[in-house]
Amino acid sequence: MGRTEELIKVIDTNINHMISLSVLHLAQLGIKYGIFKIVAGRPSYSELLSQIGVPNKPLLKRLVEHLKGLGIIEETPNSLILNGFSYELKFPKEEYMLLLPDWIPIFEEIYKMVDFALISPDHPYVLMDFDKDADFWDMRLSSSFHSAYRELVLRLSGLKEGSYVLDLGCGSVSPAYFGRFIGEDGRYLGVDYSPALLEIARARVEKMNLPVELKEMDVGLIKPRTSYDVAIMTFTMEYLTNRREVLRKVMDSLNSGGKLVVVDAFRDEFKNVEALEFFEGLNDSFVGFPSRAEVKEYILGEGFDVSFEEHGKSVLVVKKL
Ligand SMILES: C[S@@+](CC[C@H](N)C(=O)[O-])C[C@H]1O[C@@H](n2cnc3c(N)ncnc32)[C@H](O)[C@@H]1O
Repeated sequence: MGRTEELIKVIDTNINHMISLSVLHLAQLGIKYGIFKIVAGRPSYSELLSQIGVPNKPLLKRLVEHLKGLGIIEETPNSLILNGFSYELKFPKEEYMLLLPDWIPIFEEIYKMVDFALISPDHPYVLMDFDKDADFWDMRLSSSFHSAYRELVLRLSGLKEGSYVLDLGCGSVSPAYFGRFIGEDGRYLGVDYSPALLEIARARVEKMNLPVELKEMDVGLIKPRTSYDVAIMTFTMEYLTNRREVLRKVMDSLNSGGKLVVVDAFRDEFKNVEALEFFEGLNDSFVGFPSRAEVKEYILGEGFDVSFEEHGKSVLVVKKL
């Protein structure tokens, strides 16, 4: 297996396990907060919510909705009922080598945050805000899972010395990573709306003296004036409500032959991704993972002449013709 194929498998396998552990943790929350016990008595939705003594009822409702989404709880016209549920955790032996260890402690922290978020969405122990909790996000974005997909983007995008690169929702780690490969004649523009994450990114690129430009703005507001060879959107789309508009602007900004690389936990590819969404939803801006079909549909709907390459379950490369 070549390095590119290996990276694709690493990313898909680790997302799959992030999802399966999320399913188990959701079930654990159902037991821990007495949800299953109460639902066994066939309560109405409002009876269930009022019987569980947590202050943050909107999050409790979201938890119940996700348990419904997984098929553990069912809503009938008058009551909630329990469905039998079984879940198979698969560890094919050829995947052991692909498992990355360092996202586990990060997810352990995120699972714990649910208890505090059920007290209050603004509880200081909930560390999912891009600005307030930039250090936690920076730890997360520095893990080997995130490094793996950056290397994959590098391989699939054709990014090289002299490339013009636009990275939307660049975060704190990608600018210094990609900035190393573009050389003196290249240009990397990272756009992000989090001043705290950009500050961390800026400190890194300045230390390495890289030709990187960082812009603090909402990606929905970009008006690219330069033409780019490569555009990057890695785990950004799930925070955007205006995906079609952003994709139009990005595709407009690409040279012909230029490539947009999207890496995400595409919801039409990963079964039970809703379980992971429950935990990611502790960040207020999270709106849900995109589907690969949706991204393609928006780009074609905007009339762009493109070719698509799908890699594994989590990568889409769009080449502008
Ligand atoms: C999960 S992080 C991914 C960061 C980076 N793409 C990476 O893969 O390392 C999502 C990033 O998108 C940024 N973001 C989310 N919505 C945004 C928006 N509407 N405009 C600009 N940045 C946004 C966040 O601040 C955060 O840095």
